[in-house]
Amino acid sequence: MVSTKTSLGGFEFGNCLMNAAGVWCMTKDELAAVKSSAAGTFVTKTATLEYRSGNPEPRYQNVPLGSINSMGLPNQGLAYYLDYLLELQEAEPERTFILSVVGMSPDETHTILKSVEASDFKGLTELNLSCPNVPGKPQIAYDFDTTESLLREVFTYFTKPLGIKLPPYFDIVHFDQAAAIFNQFPLTFVNCVNSIGNGLYIEDETVVIKPKNGFGGIGGEYIKPTALANVHAFYQRLNPAIQIIGTGGVLTGRDAFEHILCGASMVQLGTTLQKEGLVAFEQITDELKVIMEEKGYETIEDFRGKLHYIDEK
Ligand code: DHB
Repeated sequence: MVSTKTSLGGFEFGNCLMNAAGVWCMTKDELAAVKSSAAGTFVTKTATLEYRSGNPEPRYQNVPLGSINSMGLPNQGLAYYLDYLLELQEAEPERTFILSVVGMSPDETHTILKSVEASDFKGLTELNLSCPNVPGKPQIAYDFDTTESLLREVFTYFTKPLGIKLPPYFDIVHFDQAAAIFNQFPLTFVNCVNSIGNGLYIEDETVVIKPKNGFGGIGGEYIKPTALANVHAFYQRLNPAIQIIGTGGVLTGRDAFEHILCGASMVQLGTTLQKEGLVAFEQITDELKVIMEEKGYETIEDFRGKLHYIDEK
């Protein structure tokens, strides 16, 4: 019997597929729908301390090879998601869910994480260091000094399992530098990757989203090679205690298989979930199981991280 179950931070999940933050996770209804689907768990929309309406519309567009978005962190505010997670924790104590957060400033991030720390929340928290879409706010994880000092401060008070959502890196030196920073901290996971920031998609003579004159985060088919490179680069460099969530360009079971082969313990669907809906979890899980059966793998641990290289002769 083939199984796609997995574990993260010591918590067990019946399936290694789940949503990526931003898709099907803005409201309790959406989160409940992901929870009832074939997904192993869900992550919330990245919460700021207070409600945000986000950038002007149109701010998300599907395109043939993926998507472009500049949502601008619309969300219901921390309390909405945290209260829902606390409710679920009572109702379904055997399941674990992920809360995604980031502040609009380092101070706000600390306020948020201190409030999560002080709550009864027992699940996983993902600190989003990679939102590319708030005008005037750089992607935090592209600034290594800021990232290091933020994490240093966070781990003075935060004792619950914490992961970070990363932007894609494109240079081997940056993989080395980023991993050297992350390895100093008791992170539970890193999630590779957020959208490739600030692409531009044009139809006829015009951009397709309104914010930032059309610049937005790119997801979908376009980004799989970059996502796989980031998953594998961090798999090679991080302390084995830091697990990896693979996100980016997962349209098929084969794509999920490749993320796991690169080292991912969990695989997230963003653009594909947006385009196909919840049925994508079932379809991609079934496709992944067929590949595993063909190859004689019973669990994802049988092939996770075991990417083959071409030997020199
Ligand atoms: C948004 C986009 C992101 O890629 C992200 O990580 C957080 C927020 C957004 O525009 O809402």
